[in-house]
Amino acid sequence: MLKKIIALCLVIVMAALCLTACGGKTLTVESVQKAGKLTIGTSPDFPPFESLNNEGKVEGIEIEILELICKELGVTLEIKQMDFDSVLPGVQSGKFDVGVSGISVTPAREKNTLFTTPYCLAAQAIVVTTGSPIASKADLTGKTVSVQTGTTAEEFCMGNGYTVKAFAANADAQSALTVGKVDAWVIDDLTAAEMVAVYNEEHPDAPLVILDEAMTTEPYAFAFKKGGDDLVNKINEILNKLLADGTIAGIFEKYNAPYTAP
Ligand code: ARG
Repeated sequence: MLKKIIALCLVIVMAALCLTACGGKTLTVESVQKAGKLTIGTSPDFPPFESLNNEGKVEGIEIEILELICKELGVTLEIKQMDFDSVLPGVQSGKFDVGVSGISVTPAREKNTLFTTPYCLAAQAIVVTTGSPIASKADLTGKTVSVQTGTTAEEFCMGNGYTVKAFAANADAQSALTVGKVDAWVIDDLTAAEMVAVYNEEHPDAPLVILDEAMTTEPYAFAFKKGGDDLVNKINEILNKLLADGTIAGIFEKYNAPYTAP
């Protein structure tokens, strides 16, 4: 009898552990409203979408969109910071509710991630130093490029057979180019524009150059764990409204970022 009770207790403890550790809870509008907050995982090294301001707070286009979504849901926004390559694994293991990191929707990612409706289109840009012989994508053949680890830029450059140096932090991928460790830096276009503008202001004598030829077209969306359809459907409703009434385009404008609708 005692053995049976102990065995039963063990089963219950294991089940409870698994629920927390595996993030076994399915997200619903109700579960989020009950918790009173929506927790996002983000890599705030990606202006104008998410970056740290002077007070060390995360700000940007995606944070503003998420604030509006939280307002509609009647919950507060909680932000967890991490490297980009931890965002999608964290979504899948249930460490937080949403991946918010300028995440491009790809067929491979859709296999184990539930994406919201896309809210904009982006592209991969090629950045080089002044005087570089690289003038187009074709010139990258046989060259070494820097990218951020776990990004579509990394996947794309490896797929094209370039020699790839990957860095956990975006700023390090940029430095690899400026110190001459790589021939080019491949990064999403709007972030390239912002980071290059900041760099060039400080280095007017040796500015970085963004090539005209973009390499891809990628929709950005917010990432959820599979099974969270109830919540994602509600968020899609909110997003569609913000897209239709021009709110999202307006947020891009506030950040001086050209907006391309999905
Ligand atoms: N859009 C690219 C991707 O999904 C890069 C995103 C990088 N985001 C960031 N917050 N550093 O792979």
